[in-house]
Amino acid sequence: MMRGRFITFEGIDGAGKSTHHTWMVDYLCAHGRNVVSTREPGGTPLGEKLRGLLLSESMDLETEAMLMFAARREHIVKVIEPALAAGQWVVSDRFTDASFAYQGGGRGLSKAKLQQLETWVQGDLQPDLTFLFDLDVVTAAKRLQGTGQAADRFEQEKADFFERVRRAYLARAREFPRRFCVVDASLSIDAIHKQLEEIITSVC
Ligand code: ADP
Ligand code: TYD
Repeated sequence: MMRGRFITFEGIDGAGKSTHHTWMVDYLCAHGRNVVSTREPGGTPLGEKLRGLLLSESMDLETEAMLMFAARREHIVKVIEPALAAGQWVVSDRFTDASFAYQGGGRGLSKAKLQQLETWVQGDLQPDLTFLFDLDVVTAAKRLQGTGQAADRFEQEKADFFERVRRAYLARAREFPRRFCVVDASLSIDAIHKQLEEIITSVC
């Protein structure tokens, strides 16, 4: 059995990740792939409970990081690894890059601590391809307001927090250029989907 592919979607809140994640899942299914659509934090019953806590309760930064990775461990063991081993394509709305960007860049947790958690929780597992939707903080905030949904604990953070998250994501993309594909999220949804189609057909 050929191992499946692991594709992740990243970006600051409001950059369009969920929109493009849904499109990609539909696109791959329409092209005959056996796809598992999932998200972080979440993706398992326990992970979704942890997500509820993470998005609502105020907590210590290291507690936050460890809960993100606890949810991730459950996700990897129960969903991601079995699916990849069975030849399925796993398409996840966020993964570990979000911890380096939000807990690391946004909140200031050291890279060394994040790397320890990463090694402990996921061993060698890394996405095969990561789309980073890059957008300026002001446009992202306007888009989020336009959805009319109540802001969660992260979305309530100020602009400078998201500036740091954005910079940390871009630094990560520079560190791992073979895995990352940075997409200009200010383009139209149609233009972005055209790019995603080209990339996914060329690399996978
Ligand atoms: P995220 O998952 O990154 O928080 P969403 O996919 O939920 O972002 O998008 C936030 C809002 O912005 C939604 O209303 C969505 O329709 C809109 N949106 C997403 N991408 C674009 C785009 N390229 N141009 C204009 N609006 C967009
Ligand atoms: P997300 O699902 O993108 O939120 P929404 O459904 O509102 O689009 O992610 C929830 C939040 O969790 C988001 O603000 C980023 C944050 N997050 C972290 O801080 N660290 C992580 O490791 C992950 C996976 C998410």
